[in-house]
Amino acid sequence: MKMAIIGAAGGLGSTTAFCVGQSGLMEEIKMIDIKKNVVETHVMDLYQGLLDDTHTRFTMADYEDVDDCDFIVITASVPYNPAVTDRSANLKLNYDIVASICENLKGHIKPGAYLITGTNPIEIYTYAYYKLLGLEKSHVIGFCTPDLIRMKWAIEEITGIPYASIDAWCLGEHGKAVRLYDQATVDGKPLVLTEEQKATVEKMNVEWFAHWQSCKSGRTTTWTSSVHITKLVKAIVSDSKEKYPAATVLEGEFGLCNVAMDMICIFGKNGIEEIVDPGLTEAQKEDLRVTAERLMNMERQIGLLG
Ligand SMILES: NC(=O)c1ccc[n+]([C@@H]2O[C@H](COP(=O)([O-])OP(=O)(O)OC[C@H]3O[C@@H](n4cnc5c(N)ncnc54)[C@H](O)[C@@H]3O)[C@@H](O)[C@H]2O)c1
Repeated sequence: MKMAIIGAAGGLGSTTAFCVGQSGLMEEIKMIDIKKNVVETHVMDLYQGLLDDTHTRFTMADYEDVDDCDFIVITASVPYNPAVTDRSANLKLNYDIVASICENLKGHIKPGAYLITGTNPIEIYTYAYYKLLGLEKSHVIGFCTPDLIRMKWAIEEITGIPYASIDAWCLGEHGKAVRLYDQATVDGKPLVLTEEQKATVEKMNVEWFAHWQSCKSGRTTTWTSSVHITKLVKAIVSDSKEKYPAATVLEGEFGLCNVAMDMICIFGKNGIEEIVDPGLTEAQKEDLRVTAERLMNMERQIGLLG
């Protein structure tokens, strides 16, 4: 199988090339970016770095080379700005990049290819790729796993319950997730948190992001995200039917449409094969409705929705 990464000179694109390369899942990873000199050095570096482990080929590529790719991962973005406090701050600027990538990709997408997008705000561009490229919705995947990681991390920190035994879910919008405390479990049994503990989980998530921004590092969460993008790819390639969070286009699920939102998804050879119904409470349904309104307003701002 082959993968193209668009935005491959950047932090998330290059680390994804490394993690997917190391997994040995791909015969070739084609790297595309407007920063051609930086891509070239990543290609040289990754190929030799992984020779001991895999023989994945890394190549500098352009859009005509995407024709035979089974996966297209898109992480292209305007440069990171530490002053930004909201993941949707670059909505219009990144949409211009997304729209230009769609123009370039037209006629170069292999039938049945999967598209995974990491660029923020991910729900908007998941919907944009679906609409502008006419791909099957099950093959357009928005990457949002960090919300779930940080929810489980915070629960482990305050309760001591091991991360790996917690099953919990975040829905809605990356960075402003609706955390499903009522449905969370530990080793299959209900996880009961006090209102105070839930408030602490919420606070820790806000403070974590504020801390990150305050470091003014110029970096995004490239390692966390590349490791978990690789898990999605693996689940599809191995047809594992595992559950992972992802932004997916909604066509009436939970009464929502004209929008992509973060959901619990079953992954297999058909991409997102099922959206799991977690048995939402009325309050959670209302939170999701409000999230959908916020996302659709963003779609209107960039002309994706009339
Ligand atoms: N979904 C998530 O959980 C998650 C996690 C980390 C980062 N992100 C997002 O991913 C995006 C990328 O993050 P990053 O750290 O890699 O940023 P980065 O600035 O390091 O990389 C972005 C890359 O995109 C390239 N680029 C810009 N315009 C392009 C175009 N038209 N065609 C091809 N390449 C183009 C740039 O040259 C750059 O190399 C950001 O929007 C960031 O917020 C999301």
